[in-house]
Amino acid sequence: MSRTAQIILDGKTYELPVVEGTEKELAIDISALRDLSGYVTLDTGYKNTGATQSAITFLDGEEGILRYRGYPIEQLAESSTFLEVAYLLIYGELPTADQFSKFEQDIRLHTLVHEDFHKILSGFPAKAHPMGVMASIICSLTAFYPEAIYERSKEYIDLTIIRLLAKAPTIAAWTYKHSIGHPVNYPNNKHNYCSNFMSMMFALPVDDYQVNPVVARALDKLLILHADHEQNCSTSTVRIVGSSKASLYSSVSAGINALWGPLHGGANQEVIEMLEAIKADGGNVDKYIAKAKDKNDSFRLMGFGHRVYKNFDPRAKIIKKAADDVLTSLGINDPVLDIAKRLEEVALSDPYFVERKLYPNVDFYSGIIYRALGIPTDMFTVMFTLGRLPGWIAQWKEMNERKEPIGRPRQIYTGATERNYVPMAQR
Ligand code: CMC
Repeated sequence: MSRTAQIILDGKTYELPVVEGTEKELAIDISALRDLSGYVTLDTGYKNTGATQSAITFLDGEEGILRYRGYPIEQLAESSTFLEVAYLLIYGELPTADQFSKFEQDIRLHTLVHEDFHKILSGFPAKAHPMGVMASIICSLTAFYPEAIYERSKEYIDLTIIRLLAKAPTIAAWTYKHSIGHPVNYPNNKHNYCSNFMSMMFALPVDDYQVNPVVARALDKLLILHADHEQNCSTSTVRIVGSSKASLYSSVSAGINALWGPLHGGANQEVIEMLEAIKADGGNVDKYIAKAKDKNDSFRLMGFGHRVYKNFDPRAKIIKKAADDVLTSLGINDPVLDIAKRLEEVALSDPYFVERKLYPNVDFYSGIIYRALGIPTDMFTVMFTLGRLPGWIAQWKEMNERKEPIGRPRQIYTGATERNYVPMAQR
């Protein structure tokens, strides 16, 4: 028998369906409530609102569990590759050898971008933040492939997915090269996905550049860890923009803008800047813990806390170990890693953080690895973008395949009630 919930409003009882997910999560379907009773529900910041039913990623914030299509993140980070995870997220199953080889080959064939991208890039000031450039250029793909605006056949969507996954690393690396005034590097299809990106980022015409396999593998792991995270701010943005039937390119571009914010993906840049500031200030960790706890101080411990995780972010656990491994194998001694570890130790035993269940999140240690790989600080959130791309694509595709209605929340109006227009001379 299907379960229902009862809501009593003004003495009248309304029966609403209860929806249960495959992991026993429960929700009350309130979609009919306004029609039945005149009431809407109010949930600023969507703290308790399920915006959709999705079969892509399962996250249990209380238990610290993250699974893509049922597979634990720990197993994927250990044994899979970013492109295999991308396929899994987008198409729902791990690929067979043939499916994977076609997918990888298709991506290799689309890594080049139109030569006119040089003109677009040169229109940006060199000091432009790469996230703004990235969002603009991804959106400009609709100008190069205008059919993407209306063409919805499966074959064409698949081609758009391949184009996006293939061109994003080229666009990201070119954005960086442009910002430092270096010539861009063209993709070289003898490389795999991450090595190609690293070589476009760091090769110079004056020298040979060999991609260090430790670096390429570390990057691949980081991208896997960022690949999806169910209905977070940027993914919800992608879905809501896509729900108006906007193209995949423009929906993802909107997601990039949402990710840029310091409370979301932009936190990885802020974490390193914070750790550097603590180092420059003599490494006084206690002082910054006190600032984070002070309600009169706007300072927050960046890389700490999460809307959903009230336990250790499972990605942070993997990244912390990866940071240790990468720095050791590259022979790098980064004092900022020691500060991060001290900060984490103090915060995890401090009642302020314990009571609020504030743990390190994915952004706390990722910047330390990016730095060790030579990625400049303002490119950190671009790296997050490359990682999150398959998740955004999978969520956009799922929403379209399920023919979800346009996203359009309600509100409770709190402004002035009706009043008459007053001519300017009488104000
Ligand atoms: N430092 C100090 N206090 C904090 C922090 C922090 N990083 N995060 C939350 N709190 C406090 C907050 O002041 C509040 O205290 P009180 O109950 O006394 O008012 C309580 O903890 C709950 O915080 P909230 O802001 O209501 O929680 P939220 O779910 O709305 O926000 C968050 C989640 C991630 C935006 C927030 O924890 C934060 O600002 N963290 C720092 C930024 C960051 O690391 N963001 C990356 C998130 S993970 C990756 C991603 O999503 O991209």
